[in-house]
Amino acid sequence: AGSASVHPRCGWYARAVFPTKRPRRLRRTPAIRALVRETTLTPTDLILPLFFHETLTEPRPISTMPGVAQLPVAEAAAQARLAKEHGIGGVILFGLPKEKDPIGAAAYDPNGPVPRAVKAMKDAVPELLVITDVCVDEYTDHGHCGVLKPDARGEMDVDNDATLEVLARAAVVHAQAGADVVAPSDMMDGRVGALRRALDAESLTSTAILSYAVKYASSFYGPFREAADCAPKFGDRAGYQMDPGNAREALREAALDEEEGADMLMVKPALTYLDILAKVREASPLPLGAYNVSGEFAMIKAASERGMIDERRAVLELLTSIRRAGADFILTYHALDAARWIG
Ligand code: PBG
Repeated sequence: AGSASVHPRCGWYARAVFPTKRPRRLRRTPAIRALVRETTLTPTDLILPLFFHETLTEPRPISTMPGVAQLPVAEAAAQARLAKEHGIGGVILFGLPKEKDPIGAAAYDPNGPVPRAVKAMKDAVPELLVITDVCVDEYTDHGHCGVLKPDARGEMDVDNDATLEVLARAAVVHAQAGADVVAPSDMMDGRVGALRRALDAESLTSTAILSYAVKYASSFYGPFREAADCAPKFGDRAGYQMDPGNAREALREAALDEEEGADMLMVKPALTYLDILAKVREASPLPLGAYNVSGEFAMIKAASERGMIDERRAVLELLTSIRRAGADFILTYHALDAARWIG
């Protein structure tokens, strides 16, 4: 009755201004949404970080990272099988040594937790991609990412070039144990070149370098420092990690690492630096990773435990966002859950 009372001319005018372009057509069904989706997420995009402790005999849960634990090296083979079952892209290993010292010498112990875990994982699942984190903060008694020396005024500072030697030795030990990729996370100048030269000198020319090229001095590493027992005993990391206000500097760091021979680059953290990911993606042809860090993980866990957000939807959305911003792959503590949810 209503439409019958509409004057035919008025009806015609109204229809004439109706939209002729309708994006909603492509959102109507799951099938059409799947067809036109620009960014996809697959388990192979995800890398799982693992913490191996030299002396533990049982997993030790990390209170600020629900579901994550420091693991005994004896768990490595089982973890490799779990990673394979979930079809994830790989794992990245961190080590907690029995003893720490001022230079982090345990970082290049061939019988340290990381080399032993690498061997066990590669023996159990040879095709699994195994990456090792190369840094000394887990191995130094002061918790800084390098060897210390007093500066001109007597203040303690991280000695860039002395640290390069320790890092290079650690990378060689990891590669000799069978790591496919070594990933320096220390932010010393020239470390990619130093690692490449050291690896090549030992004929480890096939070991790839994934550089934490763009790593910010972030508050979101808090839970990791419990996980890896590596909170600095004094000061902070602002003298070597990047200032959160800087974007152009990210391009400079990425370009330097590319020149020095990095095979892949990484931006870290991920969620508060999606703009940086997009910029690095445009500036460099190298494969690009992003680290969805411990504090980002903890926020999601805390909010979902309190019923404030739906964990599964939130995780898949945030991982998709990181991919959309330009990451080829993502290091994330959600890797196994996400792989299951993607199916
Ligand atoms: C340093 C390192 C850190 C992380 C990875 N490698 C901590 C730091 O720089 O303080 C943080 C990872 C995370 O927060 O998940 N070896």
